[in-house]
Amino acid sequence: MTAALADITPPNVSDVVDLSAHDYDALDPLRTFVAAFSRLLERRPHETTLLEEGAGLLAQLVARDDWLPDAFATPHPSHYQQYLLHCDSGQRFSIVSFVWGPDQRTPIHDHTVWGLIGMLRGAEDSLPYVLDAKGVPVEAGDPVRLTPGDVEILSPRLGDIHRVSNAFDDRVSVSIHVYGANIGAVHRSVFTEAGERKGFVSGYANAQLPNPWGRAAQRV
Ligand SMILES: [Fe+2]
Repeated sequence: MTAALADITPPNVSDVVDLSAHDYDALDPLRTFVAAFSRLLERRPHETTLLEEGAGLLAQLVARDDWLPDAFATPHPSHYQQYLLHCDSGQRFSIVSFVWGPDQRTPIHDHTVWGLIGMLRGAEDSLPYVLDAKGVPVEAGDPVRLTPGDVEILSPRLGDIHRVSNAFDDRVSVSIHVYGANIGAVHRSVFTEAGERKGFVSGYANAQLPNPWGRAAQRV
């Protein structure tokens, strides 16, 4: 019994090397966003209000580009990356970083849930589509170019199909997305230009998440 207790005795706080203090400060914008977005959802607003106020919160998050750890802004040489930054415990929303290598783009795809896209670094072009009577995707307007600080709203109510491209062929672009579900686990569709529809579940590129909650240095 004594030995078992000894095994679980925590070290003195003064002996703890606080590896998270830097992250705690650096990730303050993400932590603040998570808390504010949670409070917004607790009001159970109509989607119009949710997207309008949520876009304002996301605009604040992407107004500065000094908080996203490099591990979640690293491109892949052959395809875009989607890193999970946070998933709400009730899976009401998730936050991801989308990282585009030069000239990379998505297929034409849907989301099935609301989404907010905030541009953090570089630029991207979003080209909207609608499906015609035969299910063939047809361009539905001009591309929307997002530059740092811009926020775009997506919703199945408003039009949910698009193709997104890095606006640059010589540099990395990064955007921060918020979706109304655990987006990596949502059953969605991609569309070929010929009208073939294929289901997919995106998953995430990362196995570990950033930690904005470690506060060992401030806990005493
Ligand atoms: Fe998308």
